[in-house]
Amino acid sequence: MTDNVYVPVTATVEKVTLEAGGARPIRTFRFRIDDEKEWPKFHHKPGQFAIISHFGTGESVFAITSYPNSEGIIEVSVMRVGNVTAKLHELEVGDKVGIRGPYGNDFPVDDWKGKNMIFIGAGIGISPVRSVYQWVLNEENRKDFGDVTLIYGARTPSDLAYKEEIKELEARDDLDLWLCIDWKFGPNGPTGESAEDGWPAINMQSPGETEVPDGQNRFTCFVPQLVEVVKPDPKDAIVVTCGPPIAIKYITEALDRLGWQPEQIYTTLENRMKCGIGKCGRCNIGELYICKHGPVFTSAEICKMVPEF
Ligand SMILES: Cc1cc2nc3c(=O)[nH]c(=O)nc-3n(C[C@H](O)[C@H](O)[C@H](O)COP(=O)(O)OP(=O)(O)OC[C@H]3O[C@@H](n4cnc5c(N)ncnc54)[C@H](O)[C@@H]3O)c2cc1C
Ligand code: FES
Repeated sequence: MTDNVYVPVTATVEKVTLEAGGARPIRTFRFRIDDEKEWPKFHHKPGQFAIISHFGTGESVFAITSYPNSEGIIEVSVMRVGNVTAKLHELEVGDKVGIRGPYGNDFPVDDWKGKNMIFIGAGIGISPVRSVYQWVLNEENRKDFGDVTLIYGARTPSDLAYKEEIKELEARDDLDLWLCIDWKFGPNGPTGESAEDGWPAINMQSPGETEVPDGQNRFTCFVPQLVEVVKPDPKDAIVVTCGPPIAIKYITEALDRLGWQPEQIYTTLENRMKCGIGKCGRCNIGELYICKHGPVFTSAEICKMVPEF
């Protein structure tokens, strides 16, 4: 084995799950590191990322979504957007990839014991959020946390990832699950109508005044608006959120209106990266390397580095 940190270890595809279809499909891959001696190095923590190479094409960065384990298993959910992700989407069980990592800091889950947990995922942003809610909901850890709420939205029902898992989560009585799909658009923007049967439109002008019939947990709206419908209570609570920067901005504003402090809101940044280990300067904001000092930051930390956020 070489000491060159840029040389990946090889891993084999053990399982491929098509999570979402549409123009930008999402597939979850379960890889197992080939060399058993490398398994301890891949014992990751929630929030860390891996760099996956498709041989002959290139490398890309992905949040590790699997529960931390000692068996050399790394799962990532990949949205097909360009060269590397398109090639990864062609992988089948038994194919080989390269993996570097796990890299970056992690969510301070031990500091959150005793808190109520609110998870908010928009689009593929659900992927890093999943690594933390899986941690909190795991039978070993669930007793250490208070109420758990998951708020998740995608463009359409078929764009929602982890559909089987969502059914299981919906059946749990120790989790409050809320889902949304985007508004239909007309020539003047969102139409304000339900986008699908069973997904009623919220009160578009005043989301917080939406009437929520008993048992109704699916709506037509954007994720930040669903946050205003659900109104998560900031008392003794932590939010973990991830999504496109514009969604994070509006989610943070919605939480602010509900009385949340920036120190209670954790997110993970997805700046473009190359080396993943603080050497190349591709990902930095000011003096901070997102790959090394992050990708997990509180809203308070992000506001200091990006004042307009
Ligand atoms: C810490 C971190 C975690 C990430 N986790 C995930 C994940 O769990 N699942 C997932 O699907 N993707 C994730 N991404 C984004 C993923 O790395 C990029 O989508 C991927 O590298 C694109 O590679 P490509 O060769 O297919 O696309 P390219 O051919 O390089 O580009 C295709 C399109 O994607 C855009 N793009 C490329 N990289 C990024 C980026 N970092 N952010 C936003 N747009 C980008 C390009 O501008 C272009 O429009 C993460 C990124 C980071 C930095
Ligand atoms: S990706 Fe190279 S310094 Fe962060």
